[in-house]
Amino acid sequence: MSDLQARVTTRHRAFHVEGYEKIEYDLIFVDGVFALDNPELAASYCPYGRALMVVDETVDGLYGDEIRSYFHHHDIELTVIPVQIRETAKSLDTFERIVAAFNSFGLVRTEPVLVVGGGLITDVAGFACASYRRNTPYIRIPTTLIGLIDASVSIKVAVNHGKHKNRLGAYHASQKVLLDFSFLKTLPEDQVRNGMAELIKIAVVGNAEIFTLLEQHGLDLLGSRFGHLHGSPALRSVGERVTHQAIATMLELEAPNLHEINLDRVIAFGHTWSPTLELTPPDPFFHGHAINIDMAFSTTLAEQRGHLSVEQRDRVHQVMSELGLALDSEHLTPELLSEATTAIVKTRDGMLRAAVPAPIGRCIFLNDVTIEELADTLVLHRKLCLGYPHGGEGIDMFTSTTTYGGCHA
Ligand SMILES: NC(=O)c1ccc[n+]([C@@H]2O[C@H](COP(=O)([O-])OP(=O)(O)OC[C@H]3O[C@@H](n4cnc5c(N)ncnc54)[C@H](O)[C@@H]3O)[C@@H](O)[C@H]2O)c1
Repeated sequence: MSDLQARVTTRHRAFHVEGYEKIEYDLIFVDGVFALDNPELAASYCPYGRALMVVDETVDGLYGDEIRSYFHHHDIELTVIPVQIRETAKSLDTFERIVAAFNSFGLVRTEPVLVVGGGLITDVAGFACASYRRNTPYIRIPTTLIGLIDASVSIKVAVNHGKHKNRLGAYHASQKVLLDFSFLKTLPEDQVRNGMAELIKIAVVGNAEIFTLLEQHGLDLLGSRFGHLHGSPALRSVGERVTHQAIATMLELEAPNLHEINLDRVIAFGHTWSPTLELTPPDPFFHGHAINIDMAFSTTLAEQRGHLSVEQRDRVHQVMSELGLALDSEHLTPELLSEATTAIVKTRDGMLRAAVPAPIGRCIFLNDVTIEELADTLVLHRKLCLGYPHGGEGIDMFTSTTTYGGCHA
């Protein structure tokens, strides 16, 4: 605060208010969250004798019978709001439909809403809970890899507005998060791949051990759904180690800064240019591919700046490519980089704060990157990408209407 601001504030101040919101929630590992003998859910809803569940329609199709049996067994009346969700439906329209369902149900103030599905449904329904009567409690059961290791770990909820990613949202922690990785057995491979990008993120800037495990076992983890579809007990235990460590590292980094007062955030690696990139194609990119393109480019930039060696840069690109994640896109142009820089600088209070690896497992923030440097780096990055196996299918393969991801476009 400048001297002038301080003098003005003190002169006109009649009252000064300070308040602190305590945030606490548990993340509970459960194997079979809807197994009849799992008490975690029933304990939360027995006092009300009923439960309102917002669920991804696809997840309801796969697990609906099991879920209904669970609540029936515990004598809890279940009301289901199935939502057909995709990135373009992460919108105020969907938010309003969910709020209308809260009204019809006659939600009581302390009654927690149950939210079941991937990052899309937990983001939209979570935002509805944050807004409904300003603060409605909720319990999350994530069913995708992104949800399990990232979206449901954080307290951020949001909807998109037009082409602006997560433009409207809130910080609203759920009462608890039930983490059941056995949901991965039904998750299509392209969606698991999508989540691998978030694991690469935390590994490359926050935890070198996870990175090594991904180099060694990434493909097997992807194919076996982290050992939940098939694979040996040893592979399942590697999967548990990777996911547990990823969550632990994320919480270590984020818990002291849940409201993002400090805008230098390590886990924003891959989220500098991707928020603009993700919604650029008419069918938006899968979130994982969008952030991966940003991370791959940021890694090239970091090497150019001397923060990691050529050998480390190539290891990062290699892991991404092996897992079938996009390293580049025809939409990643100097114009887009310039537009995305302008947008993110506004979000980050006037500075770029681009998180990049320095070296693998650690992070540095760049603030002095010029548009010319970005354009030059893009030329080099494009050349490097030619060295990785080409999927050849073009850009559509990474967007949310397709079911397969390849190496780069
Ligand atoms: N709040 C946060 O901090 C945070 C963090 C990371 C990502 N996100 C957001 O998460 C969103 C992406 O989430 P996502 O990748 O989980 O996508 P998603 O919610 O769209 O789920 C992906 C697809 O998998 C299907 N599905 C979900 N669970 C399934 C299961 N167990 N078996 C079979 N199919 C299943 C869904 O129907 C959907 O088609 C993005 O909008 C992103 O911005 C938020």
